[in-house]
Amino acid sequence: MPSDPERDALLAGLRAPRAWIAPKFFYDSLGSTLFDAITELDEYYPTRTERAILRAREREIAAAFGCEGCTLIDLGAGNGEKAAGLFGALRPRQYVAVDISVDYLRQSLEALQRRFPNVVMTGVGADLTRPLELPARIARERRLYFYPGSSIGNFTPDEAQRFLTGLRAQLDDTGALLIGIDLVKDAATLQAAYDDPLGVTAAFNLNVLRRANRIAGTDFVLADWRHVAFFDATHSRIEMHLEARRALRVSWPGGERRFAAGERIHTENSYKYRLDEFAALLGRAGLGLQASWTDERDWFAVLMARPATWNGASSAAAPDDAD
Ligand code: AVI
Repeated sequence: MPSDPERDALLAGLRAPRAWIAPKFFYDSLGSTLFDAITELDEYYPTRTERAILRAREREIAAAFGCEGCTLIDLGAGNGEKAAGLFGALRPRQYVAVDISVDYLRQSLEALQRRFPNVVMTGVGADLTRPLELPARIARERRLYFYPGSSIGNFTPDEAQRFLTGLRAQLDDTGALLIGIDLVKDAATLQAAYDDPLGVTAAFNLNVLRRANRIAGTDFVLADWRHVAFFDATHSRIEMHLEARRALRVSWPGGERRFAAGERIHTENSYKYRLDEFAALLGRAGLGLQASWTDERDWFAVLMARPATWNGASSAAAPDDAD
């Protein structure tokens, strides 16, 4: 059978003593739609909290970077709505939407381009767990990388540092990073956000098994698995798992694995940071915190980071709360 890196990665995780599937496999077209539904849930506060901060602080954000004529590079763009909400204040010349779900990206960009005919738009299909390569035509100067939604939290801190170091390498001193991070808060609020009573997050999690069946030819029966999510305070992360409801066997071309009742497949971590911890992480990646904005409950933060060599660093704005 010819080698297929996606299939091989998926099966390596399923064969591991503690089985795992990487969260990037959530995002096929249905997974992206389910994620959009999650962001509408009352319990899932990150998206609406971040949106409120971005709305309340758009002028300050624009003043901190001065994006007029810049290139806004949206990492994990999804439907592009968060970035589009900033177009009025930032006035970018070019918008580069990067996402792993290419079909979804194509539809989103077509709709956005109709609404904003004067912004030059480019879609780039990319897996952000791999080094990011942008087309050569994307200017290197005046790049504003936009990484909202606390997606950085789906990397381990080491992976996050590597990712940020890679971004830093693609910025010159005229560039910056605008990033959203989810802050540590009480466990009950966190838990509810990842285990909603409507079962949307459960469907999002279980959908990864359909994806595995398609990519790797596994024979997962979704009804045999249940969604589990909890906050691990030691690692400051939500963990999502799929738990076998009974003893069962999963087969694929050339292999199989037995799961005991209650055995789990680890599908996602979502790290929650303290602001000072994240600033230190940025520092290790060669970036300095220029400004930060939070909501009144300090649940979420939007940060502007600059290359540590940026000579405007001394005029950094003080951290503040969005009203
Ligand atoms: C995309 N990412 C930031 C989401 C999160 O909160 O970690 C993914 C998610 N998983 C379950 N709900 C949302």
